Amino acid sequence: MRLAGRVAAVTGAARGLGETIARRFAAEGAKLVIADIDAAGASAVATSIMADGGAAIAHEMDVTVAGDARATVEAAVAAFGSLDVLVNNAAVFGATSHVLEIDETDWDRTMQVNLKGPFLCSQAAIRRMREQDDGGSIVFVSSLSGVLANENQADYNASKHGVVGLARCIAQDCRDWGIRANVVAPTGMAGTEMMARNDPANVAPYAAQTAFARLATTDEVASAALFLASEEASFITGAVLMVDGGVHAMQPSARQLSEGAARFIARNAERFGRT
Ligand SMILES: NC(=O)c1ccc[n+]([C@@H]2O[C@H](COP(=O)([O-])OP(=O)(O)OC[C@H]3O[C@@H](n4cnc5c(N)ncnc54)[C@H](O)[C@@H]3O)[C@@H](O)[C@H]2O)c1
Repeated sequence: MRLAGRVAAVTGAARGLGETIARRFAAEGAKLVIADIDAAGASAVATSIMADGGAAIAHEMDVTVAGDARATVEAAVAAFGSLDVLVNNAAVFGATSHVLEIDETDWDRTMQVNLKGPFLCSQAAIRRMREQDDGGSIVFVSSLSGVLANENQADYNASKHGVVGLARCIAQDCRDWGIRANVVAPTGMAGTEMMARNDPANVAPYAAQTAFARLATTDEVASAALFLASEEASFITGAVLMVDGGVHAMQPSARQLSEGAARFIARNAERFGRT
C-alpha cells in the first residue's frame, strides 16, 4: 500500500499507459481521478477500479484548457478531500511527418496537448498542493523521444524534450513546498494504440535496440511512475527515469541489431504476417 490515503489524478487514464498507472495506484491504496477527454473510456476505467474494491471517479477534461485543469483538481478535492499526486500522461503522437511537411496546425496541436497540457495541469495541482502544505508529487510521462531524436517526429520529440525541461523547472520552483517533480521516459510500449499506429516494420528496430529485443509493457512503465509518486522516492526530484530497456545507455552492434530484430519478428510473426 505504497500510496495509502493519497489522492492522485492521472490525465489520459481512459486507456493505455494512463489506465495501467491508475489501476496500479488504486491497488496501492490511492484514490483516483481518471481524467480524460474520452468521457466514456474514463467512466469505464473508474467503474472497473471500483468493482475491484478501489476508489475512483471519472472526470471529463481537456488538458489544453486551463479551466478544465483547475476543475480536475477541484473534482479530486470535492470527492476525496485533497490532491497529492498528479501524473501528466495524456499526449498525442503528432504529425509523424518529415520536418518540412509538418504544418503549423499539427505543430500547435502537438505542443498544446503534450506540453501546454502538463504545464496547465501542474499549475493547478501545485496551487492546491501548496495550500495543503503537505508536499506532493508530480510525475511527467515523457519518452525516449524526449531525450533522443526519431525520424519524422520533430513535433512529438520537441514536445517530449520540453516536458523534461518543464519537470526540472517545476522541481526547482516548488522545492520550498516539498513538491517533487520527476519524469518517466519509456521506449515503445506493447499493446498501446500509439504503438499500433506505428508501421510494424518500424517497430522491430525499436525493439532490437533494447537489451531484451522487445518493447516495454505498460506495467513496467507504471512501476516506475508508482515509485516516483510514492514516498520511496522522497529524495528524488528533477530526475528522468529511463524505462527503455537500456537503449539510452548502449549502442548495439550490427549483430545485436539484426539478431534482435529477427527475434522480435519471430515472436510477433502473426502480427507481421497480417500486414
Ligand atoms: N505508446 C508508446 O509506445 C509510448 C512510448 C513512449 C512514451 N509514451 C507516452 O506515454 C503516454 C501514454 O501513451 P499511450 O500510448 O498510453 O497513449 P494513448 O493514445 O493510448 O492514450 C492517450 C490518452 O490520452 C487521452 N487524451 C488525448 N488528448 C487529450 C486531451 N487533450 N485531454 C485529455 N486527455 C487526452 C486520450 O483520450 C487517451 O485516453 C503519452 O504521454 C505518450 O507520449 C508512449
